[in-house]
Amino acid sequence: MKKPIPLVIATRNKGKTAEIRDLLKGFPVDIKDLDNFGPIPHLEEDGDSFDENAYRKSSFTARILGLPALADDSGLLVEALDGAPGVHSARYAGQRATDEQRCIKLLQEMEGKFNRRAAFECVISIAVPAGPALTYEARCEGLIAEQPAGSNGFGYDPIFFYPPYKKTFAEMTRKEKSLASHRGKAFAELKNEFDKVVIWIRQNLPV
Ligand code: IMP
Repeated sequence: MKKPIPLVIATRNKGKTAEIRDLLKGFPVDIKDLDNFGPIPHLEEDGDSFDENAYRKSSFTARILGLPALADDSGLLVEALDGAPGVHSARYAGQRATDEQRCIKLLQEMEGKFNRRAAFECVISIAVPAGPALTYEARCEGLIAEQPAGSNGFGYDPIFFYPPYKKTFAEMTRKEKSLASHRGKAFAELKNEFDKVVIWIRQNLPV
């Protein structure tokens, strides 16, 4: 039997690593994250798109550590705000603001707006140390609610209304959200193709 391939998740978020480890259970991969290594240089996530940020994180991590790496980037795009907060979703309302403050700011910006259409997007990038990468993307469309509802999830979940369930993401169970969400769909696609991903990584690793 072939040795499992190492795959570094470019995060220090234990919850994220645990979820990805769970998702890829049964595949020949040895999942690690940044906490398995010493200090590595910090990378600013200041690209203009989710694609760019995800690829920069995965390729930087792969190059620095000499191992295949996976990174994801996601955020919320609101049509009436010309795609804001977009790549600034985590920092909208300032570096130290809370999720609640970000939701309040967005609701204020949306006051009086008739078009409430919005979408979450997620990009996953898997890179090898030499540079090449694979990309998986998914999107989930919904509406910005008039006021927050629900207490599950995180981020903009209380104000993201998902019409098929007639609930906000924060009112849906974790299972319901992961079937519908941008991240859930992107990871489901990755999982479907993971056999091919393993072959691609093996072909692109130095001998
Ligand atoms: P990240 O790239 O996954 O860290 O996401 C960046 C930011 O987008 C987060 O800090 C949240 O504000 C927002 N975001 C991404 N995914 C979700 C989600 O599923 N629900 C609510 N907010 C999200």
